[in-house]
Amino acid sequence: MEITAAATPASESRAAHLLVFVPSGDDVMTDGPARAIDALLDGGLGALVAEGELTGKRGQVCVVHTLGRAPMTRVLVAGLGDADGIDPERVRSATATAARRARALADGALDIAIAGAPLDGIDEAEVAQAVAEGLTLGLYRFDRHLHPEEAPKSISGATVLGADAAAVAEGVRRGVILGEATNLARDLANEPSNVLTPTEMAARAQTVARDTGLEFQVLEEAEAAEMGMGSFLGVAKGSHQPAKLIILRHRGGGDEPGLGLIGKGITFDTGGISLKPSASMISMKQDMSGGAAVIAAIAALARLGAPINATAIVPATENMPGGSAIKPSDVLTAMNGKTIEVLNTDAEGRLVLADALCYANHLGLAPLIDVATLTGACAVALGTTTTGLMTNDDALGAEVIAAGEAAGERIWALPMFEEYGDLLKSRVADVKNVGGRYAGAITAAKFLEIFAGDTPWVHLDMAGTDDSDKDRGTTVRGATGVPVRTLVRWALGRAREQEATQP
Ligand code: BES
Ligand code: ZN
Ligand code: ZN
Repeated sequence: MEITAAATPASESRAAHLLVFVPSGDDVMTDGPARAIDALLDGGLGALVAEGELTGKRGQVCVVHTLGRAPMTRVLVAGLGDADGIDPERVRSATATAARRARALADGALDIAIAGAPLDGIDEAEVAQAVAEGLTLGLYRFDRHLHPEEAPKSISGATVLGADAAAVAEGVRRGVILGEATNLARDLANEPSNVLTPTEMAARAQTVARDTGLEFQVLEEAEAAEMGMGSFLGVAKGSHQPAKLIILRHRGGGDEPGLGLIGKGITFDTGGISLKPSASMISMKQDMSGGAAVIAAIAALARLGAPINATAIVPATENMPGGSAIKPSDVLTAMNGKTIEVLNTDAEGRLVLADALCYANHLGLAPLIDVATLTGACAVALGTTTTGLMTNDDALGAEVIAAGEAAGERIWALPMFEEYGDLLKSRVADVKNVGGRYAGAITAAKFLEIFAGDTPWVHLDMAGTDDSDKDRGTTVRGATGVPVRTLVRWALGRAREQEATQP
């Protein structure tokens, strides 16, 4: 679906669906596109407000047919809630909900009116970006393996109607890139593990690189072995699928090696010899969501021409209980020489990330962000809407949390007090891979911290947020594509900072 920009007044829209926004409170019919449509409908919208049917509260979408009184077929009036708190996230979410509703009603084009109230307090390009993200994210479907009897309804195209068409077009361009990157991460994570093997994940990353101008490289198992990646390769031993260390590089500028984005790429996590119960295994095709997110984020940086260097690293393998699999109590040696006592083969994410972090340090990348569906404990602590953040650099952590807020992706920090590290002491190796019953998300991060070394580093645990069981705003059922938009916004912020400090 193509999204375009125009400066046409809302009242002249000829689309099947016209979307307008209203606030809640005493002034629902505030001056703006809704008021203009109300005039065409002889006060029809105002009457709905008077009857209490249209309130403008967040999440509400009222559908009004124009029945020949106006050029568009129907108007969707979406609520943004309290006028004082209207922000891009509310626009994104309302757009996504309304677009799904429009699509369920009928095929056809969708116009979105953003000029004037209640959005005139926000920069128009920002609003247009939020609308484009909302459309791209909210209308996402993963249907490549479906053969429905009837073709599903679809929105044929969307036009964002604003005051300044050039500003709107620029916002739309950015929003589409961010939305499509998130959908790329969703596509990879939704793919079943028999399709998306480590080899296929590498092939998809290569295609992304070709399409966006990224550099692509894969370390095969033999090369990883030469580099001493015994921890990553230990996890791969139980699988017949060859492991791949996928590397994507964006060279946007500057002399530094650049940012390192590291994503867990377990294409299926059975738990290994510490086998998961069947019910817990079902969602484990998505245990490569972190890897998908960093591939998608760096692709967006390339498409946006971000003036910064960045490298994405994805250690990709299955975690299987094969005859050659590692067993509880085995000892592995990571690339930095540290020995690891593996007491639970289901704590495999940290094992593959350990070598990926060492490799990022070997490349001189800084700062580092790793993204992983790492612990069920993080989902227990923070639920399904908030990603956990753990860091060795609180200022860097604050940057990532702020980027998440701007992106509409919630992130919350957990403490990294040194006492937690004591829980990983092993009697037979430098460290053990599990810390016991308590503080599971934090002990996992304490393990990773050893391999990040002195490099400023942030760990994002997305075990609770990688998947959704329902459609809600920009989130649709299945893989969420979190935290792609946070990573991109954070990296763009770094790029701006770098430009400001360089002569
Ligand atoms: N991939 C899982 C974590 C996970 C759980 C992600 C639920 C999404 C939903 C990870 O590899 C794992 O199994 N972690 C163990 C660690 C434990 C053995 C210390 C866990 O969380 O139970
Ligand atoms: Zn596991
Ligand atoms: Zn896992």
